[in-house]
Amino acid sequence: MTISVLGTGYLGATHAACMAALGHEVIGVDADPDRVAMLQAGVAPFHEPGLDDLLADGLASGRLSFDTRYEQAADADLHFVCVGTPQLRDGDAADLSHVWATVDALAPLLTRPCVVVGKSTVPVGTAVQLRTMLQHRAPAGTDVDLAWNPEFLRESHAVDDSLKPDRLVFGVENPRAEAALRDVYKTLLSDGVPVVCTNLATAELAKVAANAMLATRLSLMNALGEICEVAAADVGDLATVLGLDPRIGSSFLAPGVGFGGGCLPKDTRALLARAEELGVLHAVGLLREVDRVNLRRRDKAVDVAVELLDGNPLGRRVAVLGAAFKPGSDDVRDSPALDVAMKLHARGVDVRVCDPAAIPTARRACPELSYFRDMFAACSGAEVVLLLTEWPEFAGVDPVALATVVSRTQVVDGRLALDRNRWQDAGWTYRALGIG
Ligand SMILES: NC(=O)c1ccc[n+]([C@@H]2O[C@H](COP(=O)([O-])OP(=O)(O)OC[C@H]3O[C@@H](n4cnc5c(N)ncnc54)[C@H](O)[C@@H]3O)[C@@H](O)[C@H]2O)c1
Repeated sequence: MTISVLGTGYLGATHAACMAALGHEVIGVDADPDRVAMLQAGVAPFHEPGLDDLLADGLASGRLSFDTRYEQAADADLHFVCVGTPQLRDGDAADLSHVWATVDALAPLLTRPCVVVGKSTVPVGTAVQLRTMLQHRAPAGTDVDLAWNPEFLRESHAVDDSLKPDRLVFGVENPRAEAALRDVYKTLLSDGVPVVCTNLATAELAKVAANAMLATRLSLMNALGEICEVAAADVGDLATVLGLDPRIGSSFLAPGVGFGGGCLPKDTRALLARAEELGVLHAVGLLREVDRVNLRRRDKAVDVAVELLDGNPLGRRVAVLGAAFKPGSDDVRDSPALDVAMKLHARGVDVRVCDPAAIPTARRACPELSYFRDMFAACSGAEVVLLLTEWPEFAGVDPVALATVVSRTQVVDGRLALDRNRWQDAGWTYRALGIG
């Protein structure tokens, strides 16, 4: 099939490359010419394991290309909308301006039957409005179908998650759209990937509901961590105990400095905003607390660091290990690590940040911090080292060797990723979030 992917960020670039790998003819369209030039040269504009190879294969096969012009995409059978839906600057709701701009640019070009498929995460009710507008403005009229196919990929595992998803969700209004989606994903369906075929609203909700669920688990674990801190308990051991219960399971229970990234925080807030618009805010009121618990963990990390600086942070040096919101990614959107680094910077601390992949993105977002690719250089002369993103190279560092470059051996384990005994045996004062 011929496919267009509109918006080639973390989601769209991966989706375009994976669709080409499945044998489709794919054009990725993005408003950012620099991004398009990089993709067209076979270079992923962000850190995502395996994506460079997939891009190179797709481009070499002639099945994958990138452009800034919507006209080049006009004749595709399916158009996947993958543009960003960030949080509004002045509110909790999602900013849908990119989605509307995409559909605005696309609609007048649609002269033949096709399906426009939303993959971006949007508030429930958006798809019906988009369908009305598309069918009104497209020359092909009601021959243009609108479907919703939410994406569940995880950054740092995006290629695998796209080629071997644990489920597909098709939100459709008629059999024609369902047939087109079954056709485009036929390789995955024949591999046995389960599909839930449902209406547009349920498909839109599926993604925010999944993120709300995950955020709630993490924040409940961290809320228990707050109790552990005052009750001389250990949230790490508690998480292990809970995770061994098969009814609970161990994923998304990791205590620490909390969640971040371009999805969980803004999707949780957008669900609150949409529920309020729908008059059912009370139904998801607990998500407000989920967000508050999450943000409190960042403040707690700052408090512990300041305490270790004898309550007098001005001009003192600390090292922050991690800038990305999670290991394996260079995404710093709403990153807990960078947020803590910036809060310390605002208190007058000399903050030195180290990250294996996210220094360029972090430097763009927070140019006022100093960055080091080398962990030992970042920690040189530091009075406190905070581990805030659990990259394996940080967790595996030798505390004896690191002790030779810092000025005081004090570590804050914000991800419960360090071997406490090993660090204490090496003479470090070990502090962790959630351990009394
Ligand atoms: N990143 C993830 O892991 C992930 C996972 C599932 C769902 N999502 C959802 O997917 C959507 C995209 O997320 P992302 O992380 O890829 O965002 P992103 O910011 O990385 O990418 C968005 C891209 O859209 C482009 N764009 C903006 N307006 C455009 C327009 N009018 N026409 C063409 N291109 C335009 C931007 O230049 C950018 O390259 C969001 O709704 C997000 O919630 C993201």
